[in-house]
Order: sequence, then structure tokens, then C-alpha cells
Amino acid sequence: MNRREFLGWIGVGTLASSLPVAIVACTPSGKSDISGPLTVGTLGDLDQKGQLVTGEGAGKVLVIRDPAKSDQLLAVNPICTHKGCDVEWKADQTAFVCPCHGAKFGADGTVQAGPARESLPTFTVKVDGSNIVVEG
Ligand code: FES
Repeated sequence: MNRREFLGWIGVGTLASSLPVAIVACTPSGKSDISGPLTVGTLGDLDQKGQLVTGEGAGKVLVIRDPAKSDQLLAVNPICTHKGCDVEWKADQTAFVCPCHGAKFGADGTVQAGPARESLPTFTVKVDGSNIVVEG
């Protein structure tokens, strides 16, 4: 093996070893992550808007009232597990709906219709006074 062939093999090895990192970086992880309690808004805000959204990436949170128990709240990461578009809560469909390819998720984040295959990550949510607080 001459010098040119050797350097070519090193280049191929470097490219091959970096591919898994590049693929992971482009794929929705299905993981949610917020550091510490996060106040999303108030119950009044939620009742006025129907849904509250805050944060970015794995720490993005969407809060709704549980359609089955309106005194309970549910929180999901609204980034679609298919290709990463933001889902929206559609009360008339009782589902989180993705505008990109039509995936639907139940209020608990579970997949109701593809192409998504993985559930939306969920967060623990509680009410502190009139504030809505989400934890990882
Ligand atoms: S990105 Fe949501 S269905 Fe494709």
C-alpha cells in the first residue's frame, strides 16, 4: 500500500466513523429534557388559549387539559417523532396532529396514526397556585 492508498483508507474510515453521529443528530430522539421545574403559564392562560407551548428542542413543552378529566393536565414534547415538525392539539379530534405528514397522537402522546411510530415524550405536570409547572 502506497502513501496515497493509505491516506484514502484513513479518509474512508474517518467518514464511516462519523456517519452514526450525523444520523443521530438528524433524527428526532424521542427523548424529552428540561432541567428543573418550568412554569409554562397559568390556568387562565391555558383556558384562554386551549394549549400552552414553551421551550425549544427536547425541552419544548405543550400543555393541555386532559380531555377525559378536565381537572387534570397533560404535557408532551410537541416535536413529531416522524421528522420533527411541531404537532398541535386539535380538541375537535381529541388528538395532537402533525401538519407535515398527518401523524396523530392521543392526548397521552401515544401514536394513533402514522407515519410516526414512536409516542410523543411526556412530562410530569402539576398546578402550583394558578401556575402550571412542568418537570422532566
Ligand atoms: S413530521 Fe410529523 S408526520 Fe411527518
